[in-house]
Amino acid sequence: MRRSVFTLTLIVAAMGLTACGKKEETPAAPAAAPVASAPPAAPSVLIGLAIPETNVERWVGDAEFMKKDLEGMGYKVDVAFADGDQSKQNKQIEDMVTKGAKVIVVGSVTEAAAQAVESAKKAGVPVVSYDRLITGTDAYDYYLTFDNFKVGQLQGQAIKDALALDTAKGKHITLFAGSPTDNNARFFFDGAMDVLKPFVTSGALKICGPAPTNSADASWSKITTEGWAADKAKARMETLLSGACKAVKLDAVLAPNDTLARAVIGALEQDGKYKTLPVITGQDGELLSAKWIMEGKQTMTVFKDTRVLAKGTAEAVDSIVKGVEPVLTVKARIDTTTYNTGKKVVKSFLLEPVAVTKDNLTKELVDSGFYTAEAVAKGTK
Ligand code: BGC
Repeated sequence: MRRSVFTLTLIVAAMGLTACGKKEETPAAPAAAPVASAPPAAPSVLIGLAIPETNVERWVGDAEFMKKDLEGMGYKVDVAFADGDQSKQNKQIEDMVTKGAKVIVVGSVTEAAAQAVESAKKAGVPVVSYDRLITGTDAYDYYLTFDNFKVGQLQGQAIKDALALDTAKGKHITLFAGSPTDNNARFFFDGAMDVLKPFVTSGALKICGPAPTNSADASWSKITTEGWAADKAKARMETLLSGACKAVKLDAVLAPNDTLARAVIGALEQDGKYKTLPVITGQDGELLSAKWIMEGKQTMTVFKDTRVLAKGTAEAVDSIVKGVEPVLTVKARIDTTTYNTGKKVVKSFLLEPVAVTKDNLTKELVDSGFYTAEAVAKGTK
């Protein structure tokens, strides 16, 4: 009896949340915390975590944090890393279905993940889209991520501030974007250009190399980095330095994440022309980039606290297993209009990213317990 009244309360609360449209917030600590109060999961329930890659540092942490949270709720957890190979990931998802997983969390590699998501749905196994929107399908209902447009805006804002674009003239920039197969890459770029485009239009900022100002522009594909591969970004930066950007002194490079930022820095250092490095953006708060930010080699990163995304996702999974609408205790904005797979708009829980420079790095990355001060100083664990 107590249980059914409680469940009803949850459903009513969830209906209230979805009824008021786009900019809803899940409370930081709701009065009736559903996950904490819900009965523990049966110990035999299996959850699958399909993680896209390990060559970008964060994903190992995502898997560890989610596994720990789910195990703490009483679940068994199966983790599989796809090494950036979608057919490998699709097989891993099929295996999870065969093993009897009740929910599968998928950080996809490409749109071809849709096939595995659809087979899982047919077998009665719901998928949660994690960090990257799985496009080309309507076979799942929830997406948990950071506000990806805001990530890009923070990068654009960092360039605007560092170059004082409101008053400066004729500053030079070159542009990099993430993998064209990753839906996030478009959001990061469009967010950055949301801040920078007015200065390109006014001439305060001049782009050397391909110059898209929106991910829908035909030339966007020329600045993307297949598979988020550092070697590809480094090679492209070398080509720019000996070609389209040779005659100018770069003031900034828009780099979409830390792995690519460091690749760009490697090419600039090798070139020898830059005694002072340009402003260089990043994302993920990776350890070596944290060290380089403290040393002034990289200007900023965007920290996305993956501990919180993992916790929110574990809570969503727990709700789905229990047959209730996910209500998270972590702070997330519910967005029901932005993330369109091409087949449907998916209900999304968006967490807040934080811009990190030398000034607030210790507060955000060390005081928060994400890294130790020693690890930041060394640039490795
Ligand atoms: C993630 C970033 C990450 C990139 C490369 C994106 O989808 O949101 O955090 O740097 O993939 O792995």
